[in-house]
Formats: sequence, C-alpha cells, structure tokens
Amino acid sequence: MSIVICFNNKDPKPWQEALQAKLKDVTIEIYPQVKNPDKVTFALCWKPDKNILAQFKNLKVVQSVGASVEHIIQTQNLPSSCIISRIVDNQLSNDMFEFLLTGILSHLKRFSEYHIDQQQQQWNPKPYKNINNTTIGVLGLGKIGTTVSEKLVQLGFQVKAWSASEKKLENVSCFYGESGLISVLKNTDILINILPLTNATENILNLQNLEKLNKNGYVINVGRGEHLVETDLLTLLESQHLSGALLDVFRTEPLPSTHPFWQHNAITITPHIAAITNINTAADTVVINYQNLVNGTELLHIVSLKKGY
Ligand code: GLV
Repeated sequence: MSIVICFNNKDPKPWQEALQAKLKDVTIEIYPQVKNPDKVTFALCWKPDKNILAQFKNLKVVQSVGASVEHIIQTQNLPSSCIISRIVDNQLSNDMFEFLLTGILSHLKRFSEYHIDQQQQQWNPKPYKNINNTTIGVLGLGKIGTTVSEKLVQLGFQVKAWSASEKKLENVSCFYGESGLISVLKNTDILINILPLTNATENILNLQNLEKLNKNGYVINVGRGEHLVETDLLTLLESQHLSGALLDVFRTEPLPSTHPFWQHNAITITPHIAAITNINTAADTVVINYQNLVNGTELLHIVSLKKGY
C-alpha cells in the first residue's frame, strides 16, 4: 500500500514532508515519480491531469486536498467502488469568513471607490451602508456556508441562505429548491456564492438570477468560475443594476491578461486565495483517512459521487 500525491498549481513537497512525518513507514511518492503504480491505494489530489488515476489499478481512495472535489470528479473516470473524500476543516471555514467579511465591509464603506478617488486626488464623500440595513444571501450551506451564515448573523446582518436540500439554522432564513432560490435572490443586497460545482449549479450566477437582486446589488463568488456567466455580470454592471463584484475564482486560472475583468473598476479580483487548506490541520485528516483505509474503518468526509459534493 502506498500514497501518491498528484498536484497541479500547488507545491506537493510540503505535503509529502508533513505526511511522511506522521506515516513514517509508508511510501509517499509525488506523481509522476511512482516506482510501483500497482502498490498505490491512496491518492492525494489537487486538479489532477485528465485520467491520470486510471494507471493506479488498486486505487481505493482519492482524497482532495481542498474543500472541493469537482477537479477530481470531472477529470477522472473513477470506478464507483473508489471512495472520494474532501477536507472539512474549521480553519478553512474561518478563513473564508474573514475573507468575506473584508469584502463585504469594504463594499459597504466603498473602499475601492475611494481607492480610485485617491489615485486622482479627488475628495469625494459618498453615502455608505450599515450592517443592520444589509441583507446577505448565501448560496450553499455546507460546512463553510453554514459557518459564514451563522457568523454574519451574529454581526447583525440579515442573512438568507439556500441549499439543495432542506436545512435549518438559527436566525438564518433558509430556503431550498427552485422557488427557494428566488426568495434568496429577491430583496437581497449582497449575494455570496459558496456552492459546490455540479451540473445543477453551473452557470447559476446568470442574468435571470442576478437581476433579481436589489438595485446596486453586489456579488461575491468564492465557489467556482463556472458558476458565473461572465458576460451576464458585465451586462448587469453596465446597466448599473449591480454595483460591483468580488471574484476569487475564474473559469480560467490564472485569469488571462486580456480578460475584461482586469480593467473593470467595479470588479475586485483576488487570485483564488479566499480560503486555502492549512497543511498543519488538514494533514491530520489525510493521515486519519489513510489509517482508516488500512484498518477497514469508515473514512472522514466522504463525498457522494452521484451528488458531486
Ligand atoms: C478551494 O478552492 C478548495 O476547494 O478548497
């Protein structure tokens, strides 16, 4: 039994070291340097190249190194017997909350507009909004969406949230299904997308949905680039129905230098850094899952291949 690490856009070395320190006798190799592919039973992955896992005939577990798994499900043709797991971690949820709070407050207090004014030496006071007259809609009530919704409510925001199946959270208005989506979008000032990417959620941030937000609405996408119909966002910014967007994820990453988002004053871009898996806390999950595989006990944070999250 051995572990293979298959990463793109992420340095595998610190993970190899962190895991090796805890699993001293286990062979942990970095793809493509794998001596005996038939020995590999456990793959730790981040955006693995198309179908590379097919060469590991005895693979039992594919562990995502992040909270999402679409980068595995959409690129590999895995047998249904293969277990897929993801990282669920308090630190990840807290980091996401801190990122979102920064984005929300800087939008309410209009910091990016003042940044532009400053460059032009313009003294230009503008009206601002407060926490208690701001309604936030959260799409996605997994671990991260739940933490974020609860913390925003504690700060005094009005929070509505939407999930695929029915959920209940104290002081958060929870909705689900198609009609529920409309309730979350309507009368909402700021929409946060934290959904997993599936066939059902792809392109959910489209013209029809985003125009239901309040006039001067603001969109924050920390889900996946494929959730957003980019031209629809530009249309709604152009017509000034939306006042801006904070985007951390994109259809193509890194965002190509010719992309119109770069030059848009109302769009704030961050390079997919909203919440990055913390190796110190998340390595424990990977170790436990490897040990559970060896011992034949149930793994942590298993993903439904059918649901895609
Ligand atoms: C980040 O995007 C993750 O999936 O953890």
